[in-house]
Amino acid sequence: MNLLSKYEDVEIDGDKSILLFEENNHKIYWLGIAANDAFRCNVYLIQDDDEYIIVDSGGTEFFHQIKNNIEKITDLSKVTAIILCHQDPDVASSMIDWLKINPKLKIITSARTNVLLPHYGISNYDFYDIGENLEYKFKSGRILKFIEAPFLHSPGAFTTLDLTADFLFSGDIWAALDIDWKLIVDDFDSHEAMMDLFHIDYMASNIAARGFVRNIKDKKIDAILPQHGSIINTNFVKNALDYLENLECGTDVVYSDLSN
Ligand SMILES: [Fe+2]
Ligand SMILES: [Fe+2]
Repeated sequence: MNLLSKYEDVEIDGDKSILLFEENNHKIYWLGIAANDAFRCNVYLIQDDDEYIIVDSGGTEFFHQIKNNIEKITDLSKVTAIILCHQDPDVASSMIDWLKINPKLKIITSARTNVLLPHYGISNYDFYDIGENLEYKFKSGRILKFIEAPFLHSPGAFTTLDLTADFLFSGDIWAALDIDWKLIVDDFDSHEAMMDLFHIDYMASNIAARGFVRNIKDKKIDAILPQHGSIINTNFVKNALDYLENLECGTDVVYSDLSN
């Protein structure tokens, strides 16, 4: 069950995780971070029975806060994998802290991301290549589906669709920069302005954005969970797809004189 509407008017405390979805021992948590910073990051945890996967574990600076939040939910030995949607430090630099705790952790990512991750300091980890395995199956049989999102903003960027919750972990796509931030978007018009602050400068082009929308349009998406800014619940998913489809960004703007 999608629990997002419960949190529409709730003050967020960075010390506490928040349960966003729950059904038959499949759960999704928001783990933080409630920092007062426009580039604040969201870290998520997916639980399926006894398996736990962290989505975009975040910067090393916040590792202890995220670790404490997970320890309140489960034993760290039950965290089996980390999904990293691209290599940026705000997404991925804490991977080495996690690998020091458990060297057997799977790092689920794309090949283009994987060539860069060893620069954080550890290279001999178990790489799960989403280009070769477009799905991850839990022991229960439940599935995470990976959908590539080239040049949004990194060449190897991808999103993760939890087919149990129909929640899309979108990384930097639909990210928003907002100091006065809420967990759930309540006004899409003002939220668009916050997404513009990020997308116009970071996303490659309208073609990249439209191509991605084309690839996900037939998917059932109940909520969008970005790596920055507020979560987009069911009521605004269609608005979010329209926003991306019509976005002018990156090279459209920088080289607008070259467009015909
Ligand atoms: Fe990024
Ligand atoms: Fe980011």
